[in-house]
Amino acid sequence: MKRFYITTPIYYVNDKPHIGHAYTSIASDALARFKRLDGYNVKFLTGTDEHGLKIERAAQSAGQNPQDFVDQVSENFRDLSNVLNLSNDDFIRTTEPRHEKAVIELWNRLVQNDEIYLGKYSGWYAVSDEEFISEKDIKEVDGVKVAPSGSVVEWHEEESYFFRLSAYQEKLLSFYENYPSFIGPDSRRNEVISLVKNGLQDLSISRVSFDWGIKVPNDPKHIIYVWLDALTNYISAIAEDDFEFENYWANSFHIIGKDILKFHAIYWPAFLFAADVQPPKRVFAHGWWTNNGEKISKSKGNVIDPIEITKEYGIDAFRYFLLREVTFGQDGDFSEEALIRRYNTELANDLGNLLQRCSALILKYRDGFIPNSKVVPSGFLTNIRHEIDQQNIGKVLDILAHEINRTNKYFSSAEPWALLKSNDRRDQSEADYVLAQTIDIIKCCALVLQAFIPESAGKILDYLGVSERTFDGWYASVGTNEIGKPEPIFPKIA
Ligand code: MSP
Repeated sequence: MKRFYITTPIYYVNDKPHIGHAYTSIASDALARFKRLDGYNVKFLTGTDEHGLKIERAAQSAGQNPQDFVDQVSENFRDLSNVLNLSNDDFIRTTEPRHEKAVIELWNRLVQNDEIYLGKYSGWYAVSDEEFISEKDIKEVDGVKVAPSGSVVEWHEEESYFFRLSAYQEKLLSFYENYPSFIGPDSRRNEVISLVKNGLQDLSISRVSFDWGIKVPNDPKHIIYVWLDALTNYISAIAEDDFEFENYWANSFHIIGKDILKFHAIYWPAFLFAADVQPPKRVFAHGWWTNNGEKISKSKGNVIDPIEITKEYGIDAFRYFLLREVTFGQDGDFSEEALIRRYNTELANDLGNLLQRCSALILKYRDGFIPNSKVVPSGFLTNIRHEIDQQNIGKVLDILAHEINRTNKYFSSAEPWALLKSNDRRDQSEADYVLAQTIDIIKCCALVLQAFIPESAGKILDYLGVSERTFDGWYASVGTNEIGKPEPIFPKIA
């Protein structure tokens, strides 16, 4: 069976889940679900990033020891699977033994391959980003030194192990050239290439000034740099079985936000080259959401809580909005008005009403049995697969919305309600054709929508008596073909 391995970033546990976490997870979930429906053996991984200075300090300010703190907060992220209807197959925590084992093994390989040396780090560190910042990138805002991300930096000076990142400039550049699909979307590739062309410095990969993390083998006063630790999660979750590892890793996709592209597209492949492991297949960086046009931040108090939103509008309305509103890869603006507009226009009106109008006629004139037609839009699934393989999630929903819109127009202008009242045999068979065609298109759309709005799409397929739900059954229309008990699938949001 073809394999597909998809991962979200592992989330820092200093914070509760917000729209950024929800977005990456929902997008990854849609891709995972699509591939499962399309017959792949899928592993969808998410989890939590629990080590490092930032978490140690968060635990301190919560007055808890770090272990208790992370045990507690990581549960909020585990709960996201229910809150957002995620289909992850695994949830990894960097405090788990299986993870520590993989990190130690990676470290040992780097040592064996002479990729690590002991030195001294002195420079700026942004705790909130867990990132070293070079002097030339530091700015001063209101007398405070900050990183380009806006995070406050501190001066750190300590003994540290270094990774020979500077030796990987050429290798990385030729890798990006030979594997142009490694970084998506395309526009992000050039960004990474120019960063690498600007030159790479050796990277500090251990710390002695705090305690909360994985200890360096044979030198336990050193704690392994939290990004080296965290990135390894993608391997730890599949490392237990060699066969699984080979097959998943060769088809691995990391979905991340644009702010952490450097770690995934520069450091990560360099660490892997140094450890004689192939880089993942693709890293795709999505954009950032603003809230009503404003940058989201805790200090502004405009953080969007996915639990609140899904309580108010339902999981599928939230999922649909996030995936439909922007081209995946670009930034987007969140507002409740825009969410309501999208949902009401495309789900409640276009799709919901069409389904309702068409099935009402079938119930009234055909005893609830859907006339047979099997008119499947040609090339539809092929186009959609093509978009999915480039993570063009928004484009897929665009195709579906157009298809439904087109079918609405067709249905209205064919006036099947008038044909059904006629005594002419030809009118009756014409009506059958219109009803069957309309339902078939809704079925096809619902089959695909299972990936994006799984609960509502499932209800549509239940209602239409479709029992074969994978794309294998695309032309089969297996099921009773009888309209079921009506239930409101997309109640309009007032
Ligand atoms: N722990 C690291 C990732 C390690 S992966 C080996 C991390 N964690 S995080 O909790 O900060 O992750 C946040 C994720 O949410 C990132 O992918 C980030 O891009 C995303 N977002 C945070 N705020 C966001 C928005 N306002 N909009 C969209 N996504 C944003 O980074």
